[in-house]
Amino acid sequence: MARGGGNETANNGKRNLSDEDLTRAVLASFEGAKSKRFGEVISSLVRHLHAFVEEVQLTEDEWFKGIDFLTRTGHITDDNRQEFILLSDVLGISMLVVGINHRKAVGATESGEAVEVVGDGHREPTGATEATVFGPFFVEGSPRYENGDDLANGAPGEPCHMEGRVLSTKGKPIPDARIEVWQADEDGFYDVQYEDLGVARGRGHLFSDEEGRFRFWSVRPEAYPIPDDGPVGELLEATNRGPMRPAHVHFMVEAPGYEKLTTHVFEDGDEHLDSDAVFGVKDSLVTPFVRHDPGTAPDGTDVDGPFYTMSYDIVLALSTERARDGSRDGAAQTGEAGE
Ligand code: BEZ
Ligand code: FE
Repeated sequence: MARGGGNETANNGKRNLSDEDLTRAVLASFEGAKSKRFGEVISSLVRHLHAFVEEVQLTEDEWFKGIDFLTRTGHITDDNRQEFILLSDVLGISMLVVGINHRKAVGATESGEAVEVVGDGHREPTGATEATVFGPFFVEGSPRYENGDDLANGAPGEPCHMEGRVLSTKGKPIPDARIEVWQADEDGFYDVQYEDLGVARGRGHLFSDEEGRFRFWSVRPEAYPIPDDGPVGELLEATNRGPMRPAHVHFMVEAPGYEKLTTHVFEDGDEHLDSDAVFGVKDSLVTPFVRHDPGTAPDGTDVDGPFYTMSYDIVLALSTERARDGSRDGAAQTGEAGE
C-alpha cells in the first residue's frame, strides 16, 4: 500500500480543480472529521479564508508576507509573552469572543445586552457587570490578602483605596466570592514586566465578607501601551494605530452558582477611553478615581500624601445551569427566592 494511508481512491475529485471546485474539495475533505464541532469550525474557517483570498486577489508576495508575519508571531511567543493573544486582541477577536460567550450564557437582547429568562418565560436584562478582555498579564497563584490589606506591596504610585460589593442581579450580597485583582503601576508596568522582580506587586486575591463587601489598598493605575515591539506593534504602526490602553484595574470574580466574571474597572476621564488598542472599554465599567488631599481615608487610615478612592460594585450573573433550571435550584443554592 502506498504511504499516506487514508481511504482516498486515485481520483476522488481532487484533480484539475477550478478555484470554486478547490474550495468545495477542501470542504468535502473535512466531512469525515472525528468531531462534528471541529468539522463545523474548520469548514467555516476555510470558507472564509478562501473568500478572503479571492476578495483581495492576494498576490504571492502578500501571501509570503502573511506567512512571515505569523512565523515571527510564533517565534516571539514564549512563557511570558503571548503574541497570538495580543494579535487576537488588536483585531477585536478577543472582544468578539467575550461578547458572544458572555451573552450566550443567559441569552441576549438585540442590542447584545445579557438577558435571562424569567418566571413567565420572557427575557430581561440581567444587569450583570459586563465582561472584557483577559489580557496577557494574569498570573496564576497570586498572594492572598485580607480585606483592608495593601495589594500594592511596594508598587510605585499614589495610594488608592478600592472598595465595592459583590452582588447577585437581584441585589443580594454574595459572601466569600473570590476576587482576583491585577493592575499596572504609576509607570504603566505590571509586576511581571520588571525583570527579576520576583515578587507580586499590584496583584493578589481576597474574598468578599458576609455582606458581600471587599476593600483593599493599592496604587492608582496608569494608562499603558500594549507590548508593541513585535509583529503586533508593526501591524499597529502600519495602520496608524496607537498602542495605548486607558488606565484600569483587572478583576476576576467567582462564586459558586454564578458565572465567572473577567473584567476591568476603567478610570473615568482617561484620555484613551475612546481609543483603547484592544476595544475593551464599556461605559458601564468606567468609574471615577477620586483624588483627596492628605488626611483620613474612608477606612480610618491617616495618609500623609494625596490619595485616591474608587468604589465599584460587581454584579454576577447566575451560572448557565441555574439560569436554565429557573427558580427552583437557584433558590435552593442561594436561599434567594426567585433567583
Ligand atoms: C491588559 O489589559 O492587561 C491587556 C489586554 C490586552 C492586551 C494587552 C494588555
Ligand atoms: Fe491591563
